[in-house]
Amino acid sequence: MKIGSILENQNIEKRIAITPEIVKKYISLGLEVCLIENYGFHLGINDQQYKDMGVKISKDESEILNSSDIIVQLGMLSDDKISKIKENQTFIGVLNPYNNKEKLENLAKKKINLFSLELLPRITRAQSMDILSSQANLAGYKAVIETFANFEKAIPMMMTAAGTVPAAKVLVVGAGVAGLQAIATSKRMGAIVFATDVRMASKEQVESLGGKFLTVEGSENLETEGGYAKEASEDFKQKQEELLCETLKKIDIVICTALIPGKKAPLIIKENMIENMQSGSVIYDLAAIQGGNTAFTEVDKIIEKNGIKIMGESNILNKLPVSASNLYAKNVFNFVENLIDKEKKELNINLEDEIIEKTLIK
Ligand code: NAI
Repeated sequence: MKIGSILENQNIEKRIAITPEIVKKYISLGLEVCLIENYGFHLGINDQQYKDMGVKISKDESEILNSSDIIVQLGMLSDDKISKIKENQTFIGVLNPYNNKEKLENLAKKKINLFSLELLPRITRAQSMDILSSQANLAGYKAVIETFANFEKAIPMMMTAAGTVPAAKVLVVGAGVAGLQAIATSKRMGAIVFATDVRMASKEQVESLGGKFLTVEGSENLETEGGYAKEASEDFKQKQEELLCETLKKIDIVICTALIPGKKAPLIIKENMIENMQSGSVIYDLAAIQGGNTAFTEVDKIIEKNGIKIMGESNILNKLPVSASNLYAKNVFNFVENLIDKEKKELNINLEDEIIEKTLIK
């Protein structure tokens, strides 16, 4: 069996799905690995490094797409490229099924096996494949670094002969994987950290990282059975707004990460709240691409309102593509390993396996 990958559109995606380190694992699974030339060049990996690991490098993108049993990518391929994939071939990536629903259903009808990794169930056995967690963790870290770099004051408290520099106060909105890493990173840098979430389970996690959890008093716990956030009621939104309005007057930095699976990101930081913030404050909106958690978020722009900067990017992972690719490639390998019958050395799409059943687009 053959596994292949071609270059992504590098204007929007710098991560790669197969790193040299992971090649030997595929080979030991009995797979032949085929990559397009200069596959990792932009990340400082030359073709020779891949060849040394046993990869076949090709100049012909169509050949890779036509002849690979399994194609692994980051995002969806353009229409002309995806049209080269045929019946019984398998395509694995982050296919954004909420936005590409129709397109994916049409491809699935052509009997292409499409697996979208953001649909992985959050179960223990799937943790090693969980691209949402591996990438969100890095995004949470990088959002803090980006924000701190744009903040014109020091982060930790410093007591010097010339006077005391106060510690910066950070608010993290949404304490999922990205939010928890943002809390940990901010704490490590010496900030005072507050966080809020609609899921009460996150309170303990926030506190274990040294953050102060802001509870929306008298509100219900908005958590689904699967551990995800539910959309907030009007009553909750009102109470959350009052709580955040007061809190934000004292906050220097806000990291927004609030998301509800399959829905537009909730608008949490409204115009009037931003007007009340101190000039010089910085907001990073990790939910920007899903519509944003603030009233002013614009993708890939730094907006200034009354001296407050609001930042949000389409793909913050492009700013640490090497780390992100290393984790993504391992997640994908673990997923592929689970798809293969090791004795018969063939694909085994076992729909009784929850991981396979939930990620397969039907
Ligand atoms: P996410 O990226 O979908 O959302 C980010 C956070 O925003 C969530 O914590 C959510 O509760 C919060 N949020 C949504 N609306 C909000 C609002 N209006 N105000 C404040 N906060 C709001 O979340 P992520 O990181 O994917 O985690 C979701 C769940 O999955 C959690 O229960 C987490 O523990 C669980 N999980 C399980 C894993 C596993 O067992 N393999 C791995 C990673 C996460």
